[in-house]
Amino acid sequence: MTSAHQGLTGLLDTEAIRKDFPLLDRVVHDGKKIVYLDSAATSQKPRQVLDALNQYYERHNANVHRGVYTVAEEATALYEGARDKIAAFINAPSRDEVIFTKNASESLNLVANMLGWADEPYRVDHETEIAITEMEHHSNIVPWQLLSQRTGAKLKWFGLTDDGRLDLSNIEEVITEKTKIVSFTLVSNLLGTINPVETIIRRAQEVGALVCIDASQAAPHMVLDVQALQADFVAFTGHKMCGPTGIGVLWGRQELLEDLPPFLGGGEMIETVSMHSSTYAPAPHKFEAGTPPIAQAVGLGAAVDYLSAIGMENIARHEHAITEYAVRRLQEVPDLRIIGPTTAEDRGAAISFTLGDIHPHDVGQVLDEQGIAVRVGHHCARPVCLRYGIPATTRASFYLYSTPAEVDALVEGLEHVRNFFG
Ligand code: ALA
Repeated sequence: MTSAHQGLTGLLDTEAIRKDFPLLDRVVHDGKKIVYLDSAATSQKPRQVLDALNQYYERHNANVHRGVYTVAEEATALYEGARDKIAAFINAPSRDEVIFTKNASESLNLVANMLGWADEPYRVDHETEIAITEMEHHSNIVPWQLLSQRTGAKLKWFGLTDDGRLDLSNIEEVITEKTKIVSFTLVSNLLGTINPVETIIRRAQEVGALVCIDASQAAPHMVLDVQALQADFVAFTGHKMCGPTGIGVLWGRQELLEDLPPFLGGGEMIETVSMHSSTYAPAPHKFEAGTPPIAQAVGLGAAVDYLSAIGMENIARHEHAITEYAVRRLQEVPDLRIIGPTTAEDRGAAISFTLGDIHPHDVGQVLDEQGIAVRVGHHCARPVCLRYGIPATTRASFYLYSTPAEVDALVEGLEHVRNFFG
């Protein structure tokens, strides 16, 4: 039998790659091997990352920047070494521009709070505006709503077109002379859309607004070069890019990090403290109060080594081929509606869809019985569901270990779902 995916080009050697990911061998439900299609929620972890975490705890565990003994110095070197690796991975001009947080949400909240407490020229107040988009994850909406409630700043947003892209037709009304910050996602977690960064940044620069990019769904999947992006802040999380949970990154331009105030106060972020006042350590430490996520940073460093050895261009090419194939095959399923771009151009590897009037939770459950793991719900992007008049979607998302055979399994699984619900 000829398989529908014969002739796909640009694929990675997934047979070899999958051997690195122990979870992909899991057997679930009646001896069925897991078909893991939920990497946009969290990626699986390669042995190399698991080994780095174990090695850290077994051989080098101590608090950082404090002890003068050997193991403490090793822990500090590993933690700061991870910062060097991340800086190189995103092409940051300086390692001091890489702040470790606990996830992308914390990174975005950090930016909102820096600006909320800042002096001029950065201060967000009742005379200023904040611009976001309707396709943001809640983590790039709620911090700005909180800031706007606290300061009286006006929150504005770009709407969406029917085909799941940003509607930039009113860009001059959304980003105005009053705009202090424009914050938007590079790749939508629900729609999969890759946004036209340059157009938005050009307009932001015209009015002197800062730009913050949520790269949570981009950093794992494509080359992320913060210098080429020309944003002021870039946020992402470790657990979607083969790293552990509990570690996120905020990259910020050095002069901004020097000027802006800290958000969390505590140990390690200070220079001196008296009972009356304190002065702060230089960035990045100014923004890393308390004992940081040391093991998690080391794990993320190992993840970045792993991804870099395979090559981000190669990973992007692989995912593009899988996504193109999946978009094509899914459109063959009767009653299936893709919510988001229906071509593989300018789209990432997360594909949301509805299936007739079958509730996505039911779709997810019947797929699970076949060993297929997808995410269902509003994906923490409820305004997108409201925009398209749906309560929820089923979302399949792919990564470097995903195979065309898994796309076939999904399509077959959806046929079962249709039969099951008549
Ligand atoms: N932000 C993650 C997702 O989109 C959890 O599933």
